Amino acid sequence: MKFYSPSLQPFLLVIVILFPLVTADLNSEKQALLTFANAVPHRRNFKWDPSTSVCKSWVGITCNSNGTHVISVRLPGVGLVGSIPSNTLGKLDNLKTISLRSNLLGGNLPTDITSLPSLQYLYLQHNNISGDIPTSFSPQLNALDLSYNSFTGVIPETLQNLTELTRLYLQNNSLSGRIPNLNLPKLKLLNLSYNHLNGSIPRALQKFPNSSFEGNSLLCGPPLKPCSSVPPTPPPALPPAPPLAPKKQSSKRILSKVAIIAIAVGGAVLLLLIAIVILLCCLKKKDDGRSGVIKGKGPSGGRGEKPKEEFGSGVQEPEKNKLVFFEGCSYNFDLEDLLRASAEVLGKGSYGTAYKAVLEESTTVVVKRLKEVVVSKRDFEQQMETVGRVGQHPNVVPLRAYYYSKDEKLLVYDYIPGGNLSSLLHGSRSGGRAPLDWDSRLKVSLGAARGIAHMHSVGGPKFTHGNIKSSNVLIQDNEACISDFGLTPLMNVPAAPSRAAGYRAPEVIEMRKHTHKSDVYSFGVLLLEMLTGKAPIQSPGRDDMVDLPRWVHSVVREEWTAEVFDVELMRHQNIEEEMVQLLQIAMACVAKVPDMRPSMDDVVRMIEEIRQSDSENRPSSEENKSKDSNVQTP
Ligand SMILES: *[C@@H]1O[C@H](CO)[C@@H](O)[C@H](O)[C@H]1NC(C)=O
Ligand SMILES: *[C@@H]1O[C@H](CO)[C@@H](O)[C@H](O)[C@H]1NC(C)=O
Ligand SMILES: *[C@@H]1O[C@H](CO)[C@@H](O)[C@H](O)[C@H]1NC(C)=O
Ligand SMILES: *[C@@H]1O[C@H](CO)[C@@H](O)[C@H](O)[C@H]1NC(C)=O
Ligand SMILES: *[C@@H]1O[C@H](CO)[C@@H](O)[C@H](O)[C@H]1NC(C)=O
Ligand SMILES: *[C@@H]1O[C@H](CO)[C@@H](O)[C@H](O)[C@H]1NC(C)=O
Ligand SMILES: *[C@@H]1O[C@H](CO)[C@@H](O)[C@H](O)[C@H]1NC(C)=O
Repeated sequence: MKFYSPSLQPFLLVIVILFPLVTADLNSEKQALLTFANAVPHRRNFKWDPSTSVCKSWVGITCNSNGTHVISVRLPGVGLVGSIPSNTLGKLDNLKTISLRSNLLGGNLPTDITSLPSLQYLYLQHNNISGDIPTSFSPQLNALDLSYNSFTGVIPETLQNLTELTRLYLQNNSLSGRIPNLNLPKLKLLNLSYNHLNGSIPRALQKFPNSSFEGNSLLCGPPLKPCSSVPPTPPPALPPAPPLAPKKQSSKRILSKVAIIAIAVGGAVLLLLIAIVILLCCLKKKDDGRSGVIKGKGPSGGRGEKPKEEFGSGVQEPEKNKLVFFEGCSYNFDLEDLLRASAEVLGKGSYGTAYKAVLEESTTVVVKRLKEVVVSKRDFEQQMETVGRVGQHPNVVPLRAYYYSKDEKLLVYDYIPGGNLSSLLHGSRSGGRAPLDWDSRLKVSLGAARGIAHMHSVGGPKFTHGNIKSSNVLIQDNEACISDFGLTPLMNVPAAPSRAAGYRAPEVIEMRKHTHKSDVYSFGVLLLEMLTGKAPIQSPGRDDMVDLPRWVHSVVREEWTAEVFDVELMRHQNIEEEMVQLLQIAMACVAKVPDMRPSMDDVVRMIEEIRQSDSENRPSSEENKSKDSNVQTP
């Protein structure tokens, strides 16, 4: 089709022709979306009003910058039921991202979706889509996630053509047959677990861990168990291993003799060891009795690691200063009682070691023994007065008493039995744990924010927490309690990398400048940690992520916002909008420039608003305030 007429005014022509074309495109895309919404029932009304602008006010829809085409459709967890009709989303030729994950979709996956020419990200995990995986794909496809569905048939050979593919998740389906030899240079994430695949794992995929393939009982070869001596269809490069069976039997007989001797010797050694341990214990008790100060006991049955030093060892008999209690504290024990208490190491932090001390009458407190206090007694006392004053808030762990002498500085806090946020988030992720659900995380965020905001307002402009991290957020009955605050100015904290490093604001790292805004930054990292389930500093040897804010920035920029969230949270329905709202708050908190960060009071208000908009929405599930899942990075 050519509209070409040199005799007419070209400008007019452009206006007359181009504009109707553009709106016609967007209008047909709008129509296709409406057809989709009408054909697929959904529990949540996403308010696609035909009379409003697709690009500006439709939930889950993003357009390109000049507003001519829809480029992403994100409707995760909105309760879509039924199958995806062809000729709906498949008509949006400029789509780069489709996310319909965590819905109740069934039926087949129409081919026109996977073959959309610009499609880069397709997320359909956690539905019940069945049938074959289509065989034609967008050559631009970067991430394909069809996991946790009911797909059958084989993995299409045509995936081999997808040179841009970085992520292929097909786990928990019913796929069968052999794995095609996918030699894709960019493929970083692969999961084919829990299907009915058979044959050997192609050479190019052997670099992936065995958890990428587990749950396929007929699959063999590295990284899984070797294939049986009957060679699979393409014979392996190596000759089959020589039979080992007879050798094994004879070695078994020899082994059993060796075992008997080993057991006998081992038993004797064990008896001897027990005797030595008992002897040592008796000696130690006697020693303790003589000195009159019962030292801390190691954690019984814990990691078996005894504290090398106990609190109180630096208290000199002649200069036994008194424990200073704060007003309104109901404890009545003295220093001697405290030193006599049985103690157990709770943890070692950058400021010193914390002990759980059980006094007589079963009072339990936490004693923190500070190391390397660099200020005078007067400055110490002044700071403690502030810390004591600031501690009067339901979301703050109160300081009850302190002790200062030349060689020993002790702080006494209430004992909070629930554990800390760090262990709840990262504790036993691999084991069968009950992960913090979204409601709890939101509640903890709000409680922690209130605690810190209280500190800032009562402590004054100079008073900062200075050490916000997930292990300093204690959890009691799902309520957050902030601990370990106000100690930074007392200490000579080394700049060496520690667990706190990932939470430090740029200006703290560069100039050691602690302000309210640097607390806000640390709190932002804490929010990101709760949203992503990732610790700000990964354990050594894992270089996949160092700086959580930077990682989240990069992921969000690449338009796969939904993928930053903790997989543990994906199980819950209808929380996407809340998560995106909290993500936006977190991103504002971790702004590089301190002045760009909100104040802690602002943060509290914004988190409160998430829940308010939500409680309005939930009963009717009609309202949906958040515009879409696209995050505007500050
Ligand atoms: C709109 O932007 C896209 C790229 O984002 C470009 O290809 C297209 O030509 C632009 N359309 C108009 C009318 O400017
Ligand atoms: C998934 O779809 C199949 C039919 O394809 C149906 O039998 C099954 O009940 C569905 N499962 C769920 C959980 O909806
Ligand atoms: C895609 O792969 C199939 C088989 O793997 C091949 O026949 C076809 O030519 C490839 N298409 C392109 C566009 O590379
Ligand atoms: C995936 O499949 C495995 C094995 O059937 C099962 O243990 C696991 O719970 C499944 N995961 C989900 C989320 O369904
Ligand atoms: C692998 O599975 C396919 C499809 O289920 C079947 O046709 C084939 O015989 C199986 N091959 C082997 C070696 O078991
Ligand atoms: C998978 O690999 C890990 C470590 O490489 C190993 O401990 C585990 O036993 C393997 N599992 C299977 C099923 O081979
Ligand atoms: C693959 O999925 C299974 C089942 O959900 C999971 O247990 C496994 O850890 C995953 N492996 C990788 C490498 O993602």
